[in-house]
Order: sequence, then structure tokens, then C-alpha cells
Amino acid sequence: MATAVGTYVIERFDLGALSEKDVRQIADLYNTLGQERVPEDPVPDPQIVIDRLRSRPNMMEFVEWLARLGTGDIVATGSLIAFTGDTNQRFREVGLSVLPDHRRQGIARRFLEEMVRSFDRDDLVLSFFTNARVPAGEAFVRRLGAGETLRARFSQLVLADLDRGLTREWARLDPAGYHLAWIDGDVPDRYVANVITAYEAMNTAPRGTSALEDWHVTVEHVREFDRSRSAARRLRRLLLAIDDRTGETAGYTEVVYDPRTPHVVNQQGTAVIPSHRRRGLGKWVKAAMLERIVDEWPAARLVRTGNASVNEPMLRINDRLGFRYAWESVQWEAGVPAVRRYLEAGGR
Ligand SMILES: CC(C)(COP(=O)(O)OP(=O)(O)OC[C@H]1O[C@@H](n2cnc3c(N)ncnc32)[C@H](O)[C@@H]1OP(=O)(O)O)[C@@H](O)C(=O)NCCC(=O)NCCS
Repeated sequence: MATAVGTYVIERFDLGALSEKDVRQIADLYNTLGQERVPEDPVPDPQIVIDRLRSRPNMMEFVEWLARLGTGDIVATGSLIAFTGDTNQRFREVGLSVLPDHRRQGIARRFLEEMVRSFDRDDLVLSFFTNARVPAGEAFVRRLGAGETLRARFSQLVLADLDRGLTREWARLDPAGYHLAWIDGDVPDRYVANVITAYEAMNTAPRGTSALEDWHVTVEHVREFDRSRSAARRLRRLLLAIDDRTGETAGYTEVVYDPRTPHVVNQQGTAVIPSHRRRGLGKWVKAAMLERIVDEWPAARLVRTGNASVNEPMLRINDRLGFRYAWESVQWEAGVPAVRRYLEAGGR
């Protein structure tokens, strides 16, 4: 069904049912917004974005809208992500992307109206992520009454400046009672339980004032993350620190690399199980990973990571390794009644 807002037509869509031309326009739109956030990056080939769109993990359920001009060109998208599983079912992650020339004309507001109309319950929590380099995002979420729940610091490590003396020393820390295990491709059966423990350890990272509960990771999630990553042609290196005595995960770190955007390695989670902290495991796994990245992916110039601004132990390790501030991102949450009040007030 399509409805008009000014000169724009708003339509709900299913990615799988869109024409190639539409999907390509959406990829271009995401690239334009990506350049606004990180103008220093080369623009990725749209096919990379398309591959990621088409390989989304199936535990994220998307409901999406787009805005078109009379010419048929797509100028904005709005998405609502629900997470299947047994935790955080009250959460909906909202993504709103409006091309700069089409802002301040009520498109995002119309997407929100559609989203709220699609809800069958009023106790949902809507979450939003903004980047401090794009002030429009923050202005907008404040306007609709969302509250800030967590600030994250994004940092970059310039690999040419890496202190190899330090990483070699830390990579050889070999804390007594632990050994390392590398997972390069999909997670083999014998490590699935270890990887679940590793991913669930991310529940101990600071969440600020967010209403999110602990995530419960299942075997199906691990398999689906792998399927989705391979389908998007991304590589992954996962390093487990394992307790020799029990065989259980004590800590881990994980990175993802797309050889088609060779300049950057994306750091994923790093965590040490609380009972194994303060024994050097965090430094050990991070340094061993950096040593491997430098040897294996010589075209990589940067490693990028995001950490809660209050995550002192992780920030301290990253600072020592040479990660430097790049930008800040902010997470926001709003209840449905607050968003309804904003919409019903009818704008300024
Ligand atoms: C944030 C964004 C989606 C807003 O889209 P938009 O179509 O311009 O927003 P709307 O025109 O519907 O504005 C909705 C309300 O927010 C306010 N608003 C939007 N941008 C604003 C800005 N830059 N400064 C102040 N207020 C702003 C509008 O005044 C309007 O208030 P009103 O309802 O009282 O009139 C758009 O700027 C964007 O795509 N930014 C980059 C991506 C992003 O940050 N997304 C948000 C996180 S998901």
C-alpha cells in the first residue's frame, strides 16, 4: 500500500520482492549516508552493500518502508528490526535513512507513523543509534522524545603505527592454565558451546541505562551468523582463550574482514569471563589477533572498534595498543506512548 507525503510516496516493501534497480538505489542511498558518517572512507562497491542486504541473519526480522519521488527514485528508507528468540522480544531497532536533499520535509515522521500503526502491542521499546558526526540524527530522536541510554566511543588503530614490540610481548603472555584456539571459517561442532559462552560474555559489557536484557545465544544463532557472514563474502577470525582444566571459554576476541573493502578490519566482540579477569587474557587475545591481522591481511590499514564510553578496562587495553578516538555514537530508547504523543501533537 502506498500513501503520499507532500511530493513523496511512502510504500512498505519486502527486499526480496524489489526490482534490481530499486535494490541498487537503496544500496546507493546507504553508501551516501555512510559517506556522511565516515567521509574519509572510500565508497564501497554497491554490490557489497547488496550482498549484505541479501544475507541478513534470519533471527532479525525486518519490516521496511521506502519513500519515492514521482520519478520512482528512492530517497529514504525506514526499517524496524525485531529479534526472534527468547530474549529482548520487546525491542524494535529503528533505522531511518533520508537522503540529505530530502530532509526536514516530514519523511522520517511518516515512517514513524507507519511503524507505530504496525504495532500490535504498546509495551515495545524502540531503539535508535545516531552518530555524533551527523547532528540531524540526534536532533530528530530528541524531538520525538527518546532518551539517551549509552554513549560509545569508536576508535581506530592505524596499523602502520602498530607497536609490534608491544603486541609481540602481549601475544606471548601465555597466562598459566590457558591455551588459545583459532576459528577461521565456520564454527566447528567441537567449539560451538565455547563460542556461545564467548558471545554471551558480551552481556557483561556496560549497557548504560538501556532496558535491554541479557541476550541468550543458541546453536542456531551461531550457525546463522556464520551463514550470513559467508553469504556476504566476509572473512572472520575468532580467537578463544580456553581454560585448560575445564575446556571452557575464558575469553575471546573476533574480527571480520571484507577483502572488497581491504583498508579496514572490523573488530567485533572481545570479552573475558568475570572469574578469569585480571590475568592478562584480554591483552593476550587482542595482541595475538593484531599480530595475525598484520601478517595475513597486508592491505588492511585500519582496525575499527566501538566501546561503551564507560568500559574502562577495554578502553585502557585499546589505548595501550594505539587505538585513537574517531567518533562517538549514541544509543537511544523510546516507549511507544512517547512516540505516539509526539506524532499526535502534529509537529511544530
Ligand atoms: C534523522 C533523519 C532520519 C530525519 O529525517 P527527516 O525526514 O529530515 O525528518 P522529519 O522531516 O520527518 O522531521 C521529524 C522531526 O524531527 C525534527 N528534525 C529533523 N531533523 C532535524 C534537525 N536537523 N534539526 C532539528 N530538528 C530536526 C523536525 O523538525 C521534525 O519535528 P516536527 O515533527 O516537530 O516538525 C535524517 O536526518 C537522516 O537520515 N539522518 C541520517 C541517519 C540518522 O541519523 N538516522 C537516525 C537514527 S536511526
